[in-house]
Amino acid sequence: MEQKDFKINELADNGFLNVEIDPSLDLFEEIDKLKKEKNAVVLAHYYQEPDIQDIADYIGDSLGLAQHAAKTEADIIVFAGVHFMAETAKILNPGKKVLLPDLKAGCSLSDSCPPALFKAFKDKHPDHLVISYINCSAGIKALSDIICTSSNAQLIVESLPKEQKIIFAPDKNLGGYINKKTGRDMLLWNGACMVHELFSLEKIIKMKERHPKAKLIAHPECEDPLLRIADFIGSTTQLLKYTETDNAQSYIVATETGILHKMQQNAPHKTFIAAPPDNACACNDCPHMKLNTLEKIYLCMKYELPEIIMDEELRVAARKPIDRMMELSKQLGLAG
Ligand code: 13P
Ligand code: SF4
Repeated sequence: MEQKDFKINELADNGFLNVEIDPSLDLFEEIDKLKKEKNAVVLAHYYQEPDIQDIADYIGDSLGLAQHAAKTEADIIVFAGVHFMAETAKILNPGKKVLLPDLKAGCSLSDSCPPALFKAFKDKHPDHLVISYINCSAGIKALSDIICTSSNAQLIVESLPKEQKIIFAPDKNLGGYINKKTGRDMLLWNGACMVHELFSLEKIIKMKERHPKAKLIAHPECEDPLLRIADFIGSTTQLLKYTETDNAQSYIVATETGILHKMQQNAPHKTFIAAPPDNACACNDCPHMKLNTLEKIYLCMKYELPEIIMDEELRVAARKPIDRMMELSKQLGLAG
C-alpha cells in the first residue's frame, strides 16, 4: 500500500481522504486495477450515482448487499453505500477490511433512533420481541432480536406467532405498512427517512393526471397517504423486478432517484419518471448516499482508508439478530 502521512483528525473532520488526484487518470481503469491488485470487491446500493453502479461488482438492495457481504471471498470490501451498510458488512466479516469512501455518509433514519433512548423504550416493554430494520446503528442492532430489510420485513413478521408482541424500529412508515399488511399491532418507534418523507402527494397526484397510463410505484419507507395511492409497493429490488416484468410502459417512481439508472438499463424501452419532492428540486436524492463519488472510491481503495473499525463486544452482540435474519431469509426462500 502506498504510504501517506494522514492525520487521523483530518480524516475524521472531512470524513474522506482529501488528496489531489492526477486529472489524467482514468478512474474506471484505476479502480479496476486496484480491485485485482488488492483482491477487493465494490458493493453498491441502487441509490448510488450511475458511474459508481457501473464499476460495482455487485449492486443490490440492503438484503442483497448483506447477503453478498456475508459470502464474499475478497480481502477488502469497499462499500458504496452508507455507514450502517458498511458496518453490517464489518459485523459479518470481522477478519476483512471494510472501507467506506466517506465516513459522513450516514442515514437520517438510523439517526432517528439513538440507542440510549431506544433502550429506555424497550425496557418499558419487556414482553415484546424487537424487530429492527437494518437501517440502524450497531447499537440498535445489539438491542434487537431480529433484523429485517424492506425485502423480508413482512415475511419475517408473519413467521412469528400471531400473539407475539413486537416492537418495530426505527421506521414508523415501514412498520405501519407491515402492520396493515399483516393485521398486527406492532409498537412503532417514531423514526423516518428524510428522503422518503419528502415526496409531495399533491404534486404526485397532478403528475398522475398528466400521465394517466403511468403506474405509481413506491418504497414502503414513504408515508401512508402516498402508499395508499401506489399501484405497487416494494423494496428497491422488488420495484426493479416489477418494472421489468409488469406490462405498463411508464412509471412514476417514489424512492431515491439512483434506482432509475438500473430500471432504465434493464427496461430501455420504458419511461421512468422520478416522483417529485415537496421542494423546488425536481428529484429526490439521498444526501448521504450521494456523498460517495468515483474519486473518493479510488482514494479509499488506494490508501485503504477510511476503514470501519468496531468494538468486538458490540460487533458480536449486533451479529446475533443479523444471523437470525439470514437464517429466516433462507428458510423463507429469499435468495442469498
Ligand atoms: P432497501 O435497500 O431495502 O430497498 O432500502 C432502501 C433504503 O433506504 C436504503 O437506505
Ligand atoms: Fe437513510 Fe433514507 Fe438515505 Fe436510505 S435513503 S440511506 S433510509 S436517509
